[in-house]
Amino acid sequence: MKINNHLDITKIRNDFPALNQKIYGKHLVYFDNAATTQKPKIVIDTINKLQSEHNSNVHRGVHYLSDQMTQMYESARKKVQDFLNAQYVHEIIFTKGTTDSINAVAFSFGEAYIKEGDEIIVSEMEHHSNIVPWQIMTKRKDAKLRVIPFDDNGELLLEEYKKLINSKTKLVAIVHVSNSLGTINPVKEIIDIAHKNNIPVLIDGTQAVQHEKIDVQDIDCDFYCFSGHKIYGPTGIGILYGKERWLKEMPPYQSGGDMIDRVTFEKTTFAELPAKFEAGTPNYIGAVGLGIALDYLTNIGLNNIQNYEKELLEYGANKLKEIDGLKIYGMAKNKTCLFSFLLNNIPPYDTGIILDKMSIAVRTGHHCTQPLWDHYKVEGSVRASLAFYNTFEEIDYFCEALKKVQKMFS
Ligand code: ALA
Repeated sequence: MKINNHLDITKIRNDFPALNQKIYGKHLVYFDNAATTQKPKIVIDTINKLQSEHNSNVHRGVHYLSDQMTQMYESARKKVQDFLNAQYVHEIIFTKGTTDSINAVAFSFGEAYIKEGDEIIVSEMEHHSNIVPWQIMTKRKDAKLRVIPFDDNGELLLEEYKKLINSKTKLVAIVHVSNSLGTINPVKEIIDIAHKNNIPVLIDGTQAVQHEKIDVQDIDCDFYCFSGHKIYGPTGIGILYGKERWLKEMPPYQSGGDMIDRVTFEKTTFAELPAKFEAGTPNYIGAVGLGIALDYLTNIGLNNIQNYEKELLEYGANKLKEIDGLKIYGMAKNKTCLFSFLLNNIPPYDTGIILDKMSIAVRTGHHCTQPLWDHYKVEGSVRASLAFYNTFEEIDYFCEALKKVQKMFS
């Protein structure tokens, strides 16, 4: 058995109740972490406690419970600021998730700065949530979407990117880590190229924040988005980080309670940041739960997590290479511990169903990145996405299971 020297994986696994269950009588092997991660007990317990003992609306009450909940909500915002190393706490906006964050920027940035003939750059490996909001906005504004291609290894072609930039380019929106291939894009370089041309950059960090330390001031992005449930926190909560200068200028995305300063029937003035972008009762319990998840990860150390996941990646890649007829998609030099593959000519769905019967959870299909699969001229893949609570033994079991699937189809 291979042991990691920095993390006590047995202890870590005990923190996650969902991992200690049996499916069809066998221990669950959870390899669907890019879809959603499991939650540590401390996050689950905190949410239960908040719902049963502390629930009260934020920013609205003079009473004890409301005041306490407001303090916890705002302290969660501060935790996110520290986690991302944002310059100001009001640059952190709570949203429903990455999709909501990107929609907010697409609408609001679009309203403020995009006119007919302007161009937005995305890449060929984007998740649908970083394509469709821009498509809708560019259609509304009579603007255009331009696309950076990638090579067959799954690495963006930066020379092609440079050629797409021109005086009409108004924003670049790029995924940090591909949810389908695991590629870690060189976002600092991408941002630097854009900034040399005075173009702001949005980074979709949904699949990055749980794997490596992010410093938004260091990479110098203008916007950064992620979802709580993919970083061991609750569902229904996400983050939009935006540089103060943009968020101050951009109009509100949604409107209603809490985002106003003064309302009359003639006119409404808006609240300062961050409230301007948080209309209605926010998901304050989700926000506090997310803060606890970030504390949990920070205590373990993102460097330790990253190092261990690299070991899992190397081990898994070598084991999968030994399986004849298995083709991996996404061979970038810099990638997370994610394996997207096809097994002979077995439809991904069939592989997934049989793996499920062996208590292995993977995702199959296009993973919400249809244009990415058009590049490879296939419909999709089987995707095993690992987290720091996964083990070398699980990889062994998984590879044996794949060989059984092959036998069944031979
Ligand atoms: N975007 C999520 C995934 O990659 C749902 O599975």
